[in-house]
Amino acid sequence: MTGTLGDLDFTDCDFAFEDIPDLHRLLADLRARKPYALVPHGGRKAVLLLTEELVAAAFRDERTFPANAIYPYTTGAVLGRTLQCMTGREHRVNKALASPPFRRLASDALAASTIRPLAHRLVDDFADRGHADLVAEFAAPFPVRVISALLGLPEWDVDDMARWAHALFTFPLDPDGAVRASREFTERITPVLAERRAAPGDDLVSALVAHEVDGERLTDEEVLAFLRLLFPAGADTTHLALGSILSALLTHPDQLDRVRADEAEIRWAVAEGLRWEPPVALLPRVCPDAVTWQGIDIPAGTTMIFAITAANRDPAVYPEPDRFDITRRVLPSTAFGGGPHSCLGVWLAQAELRTALSVLLARLPGLRLREGAEPAAKVSSQIASALRGPDALHVEWDV
Ligand code: HEM
Repeated sequence: MTGTLGDLDFTDCDFAFEDIPDLHRLLADLRARKPYALVPHGGRKAVLLLTEELVAAAFRDERTFPANAIYPYTTGAVLGRTLQCMTGREHRVNKALASPPFRRLASDALAASTIRPLAHRLVDDFADRGHADLVAEFAAPFPVRVISALLGLPEWDVDDMARWAHALFTFPLDPDGAVRASREFTERITPVLAERRAAPGDDLVSALVAHEVDGERLTDEEVLAFLRLLFPAGADTTHLALGSILSALLTHPDQLDRVRADEAEIRWAVAEGLRWEPPVALLPRVCPDAVTWQGIDIPAGTTMIFAITAANRDPAVYPEPDRFDITRRVLPSTAFGGGPHSCLGVWLAQAELRTALSVLLARLPGLRLREGAEPAAKVSSQIASALRGPDALHVEWDV
């Protein structure tokens, strides 16, 4: 085992701060050389994992790459001690306490009772106009509304929620804005906890304050930290995923026609969209102790980058990986992470994405990109290259 990493395999940009031009091409070129690469990240060398096998194994290996070696020092400052800062029994109990409203059946039930009507209400605002920017007018507001409804918050809170959701995500790029958003959110939500304890309703906050696992309940601060986490974890991710799936379909009209012809294809369009352009493209972790892992000598404190988007285009698993093809019939294995910290919202996110596509295609006949709209509809990097989605989707339809 060595105390240092070898020479960098790539030096043109810093993965922590910069948008990497032509990210997929770069990752494919690096992966053609070896299954991982050494790249600059925050001015230091990081290990970028590039194959499906390595990324999936790294997610499962909480002992070598524990989430609590990074999150307390990154999002912890604004979100508090969330699930991502916990490990072992504490993480298991907290996750189990928060899980019931996010299970598959609960998410499907929420899709019918709440998510579908919400999607229709958003479309009502522009359906008669014949054109819209589906990112600004649908994909961005939709997941925040779903989370607000899940918490049982009144509709008039939605604009504040959207502002906080976005600001919480800007840490550490805009630390003051993120800390302010965290404080405002906490002030607004704290009284709601007491209200729901006194008069429980059919909502997530009531469930979180009441639910017990192994005789334990969540404390107020645990509930608040969890609720703060839901916004960065569940809002921008789903917004970017929906934008990317719509972008893929609108730029592949043959695939869009398949989905239009058979509603059952929607789930495969969502699955392929999450493979083709996962919204969480590059996820940083830290390796706290020196180790030789999968033949890689990793010094203590090394940043690891789990390249989900490279794993999802690994030609060893997905033939012709750059082709968007909803007939693959495969679920991407790493878009929602893996191992103990895998995404709690995996069913909710899919319920939202499928419902959104179903409502948009039913309400906007002949949906297509507007003339000249293709450049902005292309999926691009957001927040360095960590997240990806299109900036805008200017579309039109028959009215
Ligand atoms: C397409 C949409 C989504 C994608 C691609 C996604 C992706 C991910 C990924 C990759 C992780 C693992 C992070 C890590 O290992 O460090 C994660 C964790 C998490 N996600 Fe999602 N997510 C999505 C939507 C949602 C939604 C809708 C919610 C809830 C409203 C949610 C809640 C969470 C939570 C609470 C965690 C932390 C789990 C833990 O630490 O045990 N996510 N997500």
